[in-house]
Amino acid sequence: MTKVLVTGAEGQLGSDLVSFLTLSGYQVFGMGKSELDITNEDEVNRIVALIKPNIIIHCAAYTQVDQAEFEQDLAFLINGIGTRNIAIAAENIHAKLVYLSTDYVFDGSSTTPYHEFSPVSPINIYGSSKLAGEHFVRGFHSKFFIVRTSWIFGVHGNNFVKTMLKLAKGTEPLTVVHDQVGCPTYTMDLVNCIVKLMETSKFGVYHVSNTGSCSWFEFAKEVFQQSNILTTIKPCTTEEFPRPARRPKYSVLDHMGLRINQFAAMPHWKNALNRCLLQMKRKETGSLSQE
Ligand SMILES: NC(=O)c1ccc[n+]([C@@H]2O[C@H](COP(=O)([O-])OP(=O)(O)OC[C@H]3O[C@@H](n4cnc5c(N)ncnc54)[C@H](OP(=O)(O)O)[C@@H]3O)[C@@H](O)[C@H]2O)c1
Repeated sequence: MTKVLVTGAEGQLGSDLVSFLTLSGYQVFGMGKSELDITNEDEVNRIVALIKPNIIIHCAAYTQVDQAEFEQDLAFLINGIGTRNIAIAAENIHAKLVYLSTDYVFDGSSTTPYHEFSPVSPINIYGSSKLAGEHFVRGFHSKFFIVRTSWIFGVHGNNFVKTMLKLAKGTEPLTVVHDQVGCPTYTMDLVNCIVKLMETSKFGVYHVSNTGSCSWFEFAKEVFQQSNILTTIKPCTTEEFPRPARRPKYSVLDHMGLRINQFAAMPHWKNALNRCLLQMKRKETGSLSQE
């Protein structure tokens, strides 16, 4: 039985990974921060050596993009040094390593989709710290998959889809930025792809998002349309909605890695959103009927 250790197992991606892997017959060790703090080198070495997983899927991260601008040390400690600890421990026991990275390693100045060989140049602390993690993985591990993904949504944790659905219940008209374009990614589609990758020896960097692209404004509009919610939504510019961290204006990912290694194409994000909204409804109905 293949043993898989998942870090950040209580996060939005980690939660879905643990459920899917368990249902698929893997022996899964899902570790939240309280069970495995990736910044604690001794703890990482002890737990990894004790479990001896065949594969480590490293989802744990500092993910607060704006707050990272004020907590630079903490962001690099978790995303850089924490990833170094995982990479070294995984290499010591010859486990394969899947490291989750981000479209924010790019600066957004391109006008065509970024592929896996495009030059990186992050413009905020979060992106820089995740890139530091990529460097540590390349430096300390020999059988790795670096999976760059973007704009994640799913039933667990906080994400854009849930925020929009919550805001639509208010009375204020909604304003959403229209000049940042990227690729939404449904956790379940990402999980599926990660599992396919990790079963192979086709190591390297992969861009994994749903296909198609949109602005945050277009994404919000589609959420409301598919949910049959009538609400007033207006486009705005990044300048009109200033945030502490700069964001790439264009971070559309090209999936060259999947293509040239003969992996299946990812579903379109509108199709993914439809399945996610159904999953959210099923979860809501399930929890209501248990009350
Ligand atoms: N969300 C996105 O749109 C997006 C886009 C591109 C890439 N990614 C990457 O995809 C991965 C999964 O993202 P996600 O959305 O699932 O993130 P998430 O929901 O924020 O989950 C990350 C988890 O890591 C945990 N964590 C933080 N510090 C830790 C530490 N020192 N030791 C162990 N665990 C720690 C967090 O716990 P606490 O919450 O208790 O701190 C959280 O449960 C991350 O690597 C992220 O960088 C995400």
